[in-house]
Amino acid sequence: MPEVPVITIDGPSGSGKGTVSARVAAALGWHILDSGALYRLTGHAVQKAGIGFNNPTQAADIARNLDVEFQDGQILLDGEDVSLAIRTEQAGNNASRVAAMPEVRAALLDWQREAARPPGLVADGRDMGTTVFPDAPLKVFLTASAEERAKRRYKQLKEKGIASNIADLAAEIRERDERDSTRAASPLLPAEDALVVDSTGMDIDTVVETILRAARERGLGTA
Ligand code: C5P
Repeated sequence: MPEVPVITIDGPSGSGKGTVSARVAAALGWHILDSGALYRLTGHAVQKAGIGFNNPTQAADIARNLDVEFQDGQILLDGEDVSLAIRTEQAGNNASRVAAMPEVRAALLDWQREAARPPGLVADGRDMGTTVFPDAPLKVFLTASAEERAKRRYKQLKEKGIASNIADLAAEIRERDERDSTRAASPLLPAEDALVVDSTGMDIDTVVETILRAARERGLGTA
């Protein structure tokens, strides 16, 4: 049972979890855990090491020994700025391949739990409410239609100067959803006690306010 309050925000890729989690954490003055970044970093490091994606033991070793620094919005891996490199669709796919390995998930578990520090943590991911923080007092499952998520992803990538097209993105999103929700290890599913928020056609302020209201109702973030 974590003593530090945790709000988990899980959901499929492109559901707006990243933005929503950052806004909720800022409103409460809490820390944030971007667990997807850990899988992206592991995928990146596995590719760089050239060991292929069929080697869970070595991939878990890499995950356990990641040399990462989070610095002013930048992410350094072995001292190299990989902030942009880990955000490409290719990096997302590599992340999802290592994320399907139970050995890698186990290697990243303690690291994620250690992120729960006072005054509180907003944990963004796929299995934050089901596996990593099962006792969290507020669990949110944020979703949106695949089309809406592809459009959002397109906009996001464009803002970062990364070229893409919506049809390819929608296909990749469906493929990744399928792999994430059918894998045996921590599949992407809402926790039984999760508040499910479908953000299709909802603006970001409304989503954030919905979550903050649920937090207030549970007495979170008011201390
Ligand atoms: O959230 P993001 O798109 O950065 O995550 C990249 C990939 O990492 C996801 O598609 C998923 O396969 C994996 N992931 C996971 N569990 C988490 C966070 C991310 O399996 N808690």
